[in-house]
Order: sequence, then C-alpha cells, then structure tokens
Amino acid sequence: MLIAQVSDLHVCAPGQLANGVVDTNAMAREGLRAVAALQPRPDALLLTGDLVEAGGADSYAHLLELLAPIDLPLYPLAGNHDERASLAEAFAGRIGPHSARLPGFWQYAAALGPLRLLALDTVVPMEGHGALCARRLDWLDQRLAEDATPTVIAMHHPPFATCIGHMDEMGLLEGAEALEAIVRRHGQVQAILCGHLHRSIQVRFGGTVAMVCPSTAHQIALNLLGSSADGYVMETPGFQLHLWHGGRLVSHTAPIGDFGGTKPFA
Ligand SMILES: [Fe+2]
Repeated sequence: MLIAQVSDLHVCAPGQLANGVVDTNAMAREGLRAVAALQPRPDALLLTGDLVEAGGADSYAHLLELLAPIDLPLYPLAGNHDERASLAEAFAGRIGPHSARLPGFWQYAAALGPLRLLALDTVVPMEGHGALCARRLDWLDQRLAEDATPTVIAMHHPPFATCIGHMDEMGLLEGAEALEAIVRRHGQVQAILCGHLHRSIQVRFGGTVAMVCPSTAHQIALNLLGSSADGYVMETPGFQLHLWHGGRLVSHTAPIGDFGGTKPFA
C-alpha cells in the first residue's frame, strides 16, 4: 500500500493568484503532474486540507480539473481555507470509498488495503486555528475501539506546537491533549499525517509519530525565534509518500521540480 499525500494546494479560480502573488494553480498543476507520473503508482491520494485558497465553488471546480489526470481514489480533508459545504459538493462523486461519516463534519473512515484511514475535521468555520470538539474526538475513539487494523490518522492542523510562533497561534487550539490520550490508548495508530504548516516537520506524539507534509505551493518561513512575525518563502515545494512495508509505515518527502534526473554513481 502506497499513499501519496499532497497538502495546502491553495488552488484559486483560474487566472487568480494566492495572496495576489503566488501562482498556486501552476504549482498545484506541477505537483499533481509529479504524483501522476510516480512509479510505482500510489494506491490512493490523500489531500490534507487548504485545498483551495478561499472556498468557493469556482475554486473547487478548478481543483477538480487539476486533479483530472490523477486516476486514484482521492481522500480530501478540509483545512481552514476550505468551505465544508463547497468541498463536500465538489467531491461528492470523486471521493474514494469511505464510511462512518460524522454528520455536520467532514470526517470519515476508509479501508486502504492493509491500512485504515481515519480522516479528521479540525476546521473552525471562519477561523484560522483548528479544534477537535468532544463529538469529533468521541468519533475517533469509537473508530479506534471497533477495529484494530493498522491505522493512519489524517488531519489538517497538527496537534502539536511547531515553535513557529504565528502558526502555533493558529494551530489546533482545542482537543490536542485529549487526542494524544486517545492515540496513546490505541496502539494501532501508525502515524498522524497533517498539513497547515507548509513544511516538513516530525514529532513523537501519543506513542506514535505525527508529521507535516510540505505544501505544493509556498512554504512557511522557518522562524524558530518564537515571535509572531509572519511570512512565507518560495522554498522548493513537495509532497509525501507513505509506504506500508514490513509492518511499518515508511514516509518519504519528495521535492517537486526538475532536478535533472537520476545520475548513475561512477
Ligand atoms: Fe495552508
């Protein structure tokens, strides 16, 4: 089982730029082209939120156009830039097989071969930060209690402090401790796959590993001064590949771009 993960595509309506500057549409197109060309071919594509820059049906329609060359089951999540209703409408006929949808949220389970995916909804409408309320956490606890299959949890907002000040201020401000306690009780959780931070980060969490996937577009500046200074940088974008092999999830971060191909060792 090979899961490709892209995150924070921030797709706009055709012809528009994110922040008025970043051509996230062109960058999403290039990132998705790289995913479509992967060998071996992934079994599923996970999209960990901020799929579009500003909600809206026109942005989601464009995203689906960009996703058209991807002939894989799609597992989209909502981020703080998404609109649950528009996302649900856009992906109604395009999301991969799934079950156990939590009414009122974009939260579901999916069987991915030997793995189980539990997709969480951390969105607080009209806010940048995230939250997991009792209903969403209870749902997760029940899903983990009912099935001991090796499980991957996916969520937009990382449930840990990253030490990038302004992003932590809009991190998962509710439910992180309760989530960690739940994960610690259920040993089948192989990883927690996140977005939101627009750069690769890994941390131990609740006895498992939690990690953040880079954005296909702009990256958040690596500012560990603890200040709330805000900023993004045009570092190389990327995506992640999670391979279930030998009873472990092996995760790779891949940069997006043309680096001149593979050269043989002399
Ligand atoms: Fe984002």
